Amino acid sequence: MKSSAKQGSLIVSTGSAVPDFTINNYQISQIVETSDEWILARTGISERRLLTDYNHSVIDLAVEASKQALEKIDMDPLKIDLIILATSSPNDLFGSASQLQAKIKAFNAVAFDLTAACSGFVIALVTASQFLQTGNYNNILIVGADALSKWTNWSDRSTCILFGDGAGAAILQSCSLQNNEILGFHLSTDGNYSDQLSLAYQNQYSPHPSLKLAQGSFNYIQMNGREVYKFAISKVPESILLCLNSLNLSADDVNWLLLHQANDRILKAVADKLSIGSDKIISNLNKYGNTSAASIPLVLDQALSENKISKGDIVVVSGFGAGLTWGTVVLRWMSD
Ligand code: UT7
Repeated sequence: MKSSAKQGSLIVSTGSAVPDFTINNYQISQIVETSDEWILARTGISERRLLTDYNHSVIDLAVEASKQALEKIDMDPLKIDLIILATSSPNDLFGSASQLQAKIKAFNAVAFDLTAACSGFVIALVTASQFLQTGNYNNILIVGADALSKWTNWSDRSTCILFGDGAGAAILQSCSLQNNEILGFHLSTDGNYSDQLSLAYQNQYSPHPSLKLAQGSFNYIQMNGREVYKFAISKVPESILLCLNSLNLSADDVNWLLLHQANDRILKAVADKLSIGSDKIISNLNKYGNTSAASIPLVLDQALSENKISKGDIVVVSGFGAGLTWGTVVLRWMSD
């Protein structure tokens, strides 16, 4: 953190939510040509949750996760100054954070969406910490929520096996500089590879013959899995090392690796490249798959509920995905 910071930032509470409906690998093998063995061996995923209820949306998951985080610390939602909703599957392209604001009754908060796919939560964490450091805000709710099942091509076995739906929330609070938890960050984008993983808008037709205008809709998720895999295992360790070095820390100082839950093999390859033991990897891929912006706060909330993370632990949080965008935040955990 730069010395110009007026105050520090602290994660004071977390929450998470997933839909009730579970689909396992065997059930997916009834839809596309695949098998439990292939999916488990190549990804580490056994099952994932899908939003199947017509009347429930990604915002309902975001609301549930946010309410949980508020209730854990008995916080009045009116105290929240800012809500950042990291999502790539909003209910409304104009932004869905305002729906979340209204549903949790956080009427004093300004609310906006942040679109950065699987890196969304990491970028929301960094963005929130900037508002806290400057002293402009004191209480910020950040939520990672995605329902990529809505945008998955259920005939494409290379993507439909991966994604699950979910939401995770964290409340950040200003604190003294001595108690600051967010030690540093490193963020990157390489837009030259944006076509390797996309959920792209496509023009389809002209609404009226006399109008030289095409209108269209968004396509399904398209991914070059091998390329994204190679990108992740080369750029993520690099980003983590850059961030650790800037803080005069080394990989030996890391207590927990909390990476975007994309693929078990990616998590292990990143840990191996950094010579970090696989016992330090936090993972819930097996049960939830890749929940995009939700994956990091979902697994963080779970790790905290299992009392895995202790006061003083160095936690390395890294996200990576479409953009291609990737980034790391290094935390020194301050709560008991
Ligand atoms: O969250 C955003 C970031 N996303 C990621 O990080 C995802 C990164 N990529 C991956 O995790 C992996 O590339 C995948 C899990 C998507 C794919 O695993 P892979 O080991 O890279 O497989 P592949 O794409 O190289 O395909 C190997 C073979 C191919 O057959 P051939 O060409 O060798 O005959 C595929 O057609 O496996 C085939 N294949 C499948 N077979 C059974 C691809 N998908 C499946 C499937 N079931 N679901």
